[in-house]
Amino acid sequence: MNIKKGYNEWAKIYDSNVNRTRDLEAVSLRQMLAPYSFHHVLELGCGTGKNTFWLAERAKSLVGLDFSEEMLAKAKSKNHFGHVRLQLADIQEEWEVEDGAFDLISCSLTLEHIDDLEAIFAQASQKIQPGGLFYIGELHPFKQYLGTKARFGEGDARIELDVFVHHISDFLKAAKKENWELLALKEWFDEGENGELPRLVSFVFKKI
Ligand SMILES: C[S@@+](CC[C@H](N)C(=O)[O-])C[C@H]1O[C@@H](n2cnc3c(N)ncnc32)[C@H](O)[C@@H]1O
Repeated sequence: MNIKKGYNEWAKIYDSNVNRTRDLEAVSLRQMLAPYSFHHVLELGCGTGKNTFWLAERAKSLVGLDFSEEMLAKAKSKNHFGHVRLQLADIQEEWEVEDGAFDLISCSLTLEHIDDLEAIFAQASQKIQPGGLFYIGELHPFKQYLGTKARFGEGDARIELDVFVHHISDFLKAAKKENWELLALKEWFDEGENGELPRLVSFVFKKI
């Protein structure tokens, strides 16, 4: 299904349906960013705000971008922070935020919907301050190789969204091309299933 249309539908239940990928990624982001401090955050694909407000509590300003009106509406309904701005935007187009204004760019479970990773890293390079961080948490490509996609609903009503497969090396290559240094990479398994396929991969890069 078309990605934007899919998320506009999914928004109704995104926060409440069973979704191990969503929940594990929340753990990933919190653990991966725990060692770092940051003040000005740009969140790509902020969705209903699963990570937005955790980040906002630790920051002085946050801009969240998402192209789904309905996902963004959910996030806006939860936003009690004066320093959080939630903006309707397609991250494949030019991000209408100030250059060099952020010390953290964060992107969770969104890049599987983006074909051109290098374009994302290139824009991130414009928007980040020197030494700033880029956190990415994604469905592990091993899962993608087996056909897992962003999806919701059950049985005949199951809806799968359009996705692009990104190998681990694709992230590393795109980052290297734009002078992002890899600080951390971690693979995340469902609880009690270590040794099985990882569900997620997450990265922290630093702009050099
Ligand atoms: C799986 S949700 C993740 C939301 C949130 N980051 C989280 O972890 O719960 C993916 C989000 O990316 C957004 N998205 C997908 N493609 C996008 C694009 N090209 N531009 C902006 N947002 C996009 C969707 O609307 C959706 O809210």
